[in-house]
Amino acid sequence: MLKYLRFYEERGLRVEKALNQYVWDVEGRKYLDMHTCHGVAFLGHGNPHIVEALKTQLSKLMVTSTSFSTSVMDEMLGALSKVVPEKFQYVTLLNSGSEAVELALKIAKRMTGRKSLVAFTSSFHGRTLGALSVTHNPRYRKDFEPLIPNVKFGRFNDAEALDDLITEETAGVIVEVVQGEGGVNLATHEFIRELRRRTYEVGGLLIIDEVQTGFGRTGKVWAHEYYSIQADVLLAGKALGGGFPVSAVFMPGDIASKVMRGDHGSTYGGNPLACAAVKASAELLVRESVPAKAEAAGYELLKALRSELDGVKVVRSIRGLGLMAGIELRFLPSPVLRCAQEGGVLLLKAGATVVRLLPPYMISKEDIRWCTDVVKECLQRLSSRIT
Ligand SMILES: Cc1ncc(COP(=O)(O)O)c(C=O)c1O
Repeated sequence: MLKYLRFYEERGLRVEKALNQYVWDVEGRKYLDMHTCHGVAFLGHGNPHIVEALKTQLSKLMVTSTSFSTSVMDEMLGALSKVVPEKFQYVTLLNSGSEAVELALKIAKRMTGRKSLVAFTSSFHGRTLGALSVTHNPRYRKDFEPLIPNVKFGRFNDAEALDDLITEETAGVIVEVVQGEGGVNLATHEFIRELRRRTYEVGGLLIIDEVQTGFGRTGKVWAHEYYSIQADVLLAGKALGGGFPVSAVFMPGDIASKVMRGDHGSTYGGNPLACAAVKASAELLVRESVPAKAEAAGYELLKALRSELDGVKVVRSIRGLGLMAGIELRFLPSPVLRCAQEGGVLLLKAGATVVRLLPPYMISKEDIRWCTDVVKECLQRLSSRIT
């Protein structure tokens, strides 16, 4: 009998089914899902609009190469056009966030003819070898080096260092405007503004990785809208397919026209099921005003966390944007995750000491109360043990 090789920590929970913001284990116990498979189920588990679209597509056509045209791809393009900035005239679909990053890095090199890339401390862009080259955490990188050469890491939010860091040699700069895996770290407005100015100045591409932040999670469709700048290449994943594995690379026409046939490829990229999932998710985003709901729920969540955890000594800070929240602790987050799970709330970690919350957009006030009560109780219990 084969065993599954896990790369993530075993959480000791056998999940049976899920609906909206909840999952149930095999014993029928209900959990509030603030983990959402690393942020994927932002549109809710089993959203009927997405499930229906997938079922319909399943019965018609599951797979065809993107050498051939399909109606579902045209429909997906129509729906997606309504939720991406107008400057992006082209999109290509891949299967995971890391793959989107791989393509973006190649595009930067192709477009500029340059070889150097810039990323930032605490960044996370995936674990395939190209994406890993721009992911900062040494724990993920060190045993797999050498990675892609000519990658420089600047200090996240160090706007003053950008002029030296980004030069006429720089093909592209990749950044998350809110770092997810790295600790729920928000970029400052000055940093992003200077990043945009400097990349324009030297002619390097600004790649904004919205695999985690994109598609409504932060209260806008795209988190970089908060910064009033435009990306050259925009990446999406996770929430984009409503649970179906798919990612997207958006680019304007002048960039797309430089990309050559054979520069990239993916057997499954842009398959009809992925197109159906993205089409339905994009429709839902607009029809349900998902970003506005995420903004309102995110405000409630952060407010509740701040007031409930005020004075809890082991909490260093609470930060977030929309429905992406982080509680920075004075110790490792794993015991809190375990304790919260016992209380019926599924959380995840970020960085070394951060508890991360990535709930679905329909999380209610009662859910928020459930979550904050459980987290508070866990933190008080654990801090009494270590103090
Ligand atoms: C910002 C960002 N980029 C890229 C990735 C990699 O995505 P995937 O795990 O789908 O390959 C992630 C995953 O967490 C991410 O948060």
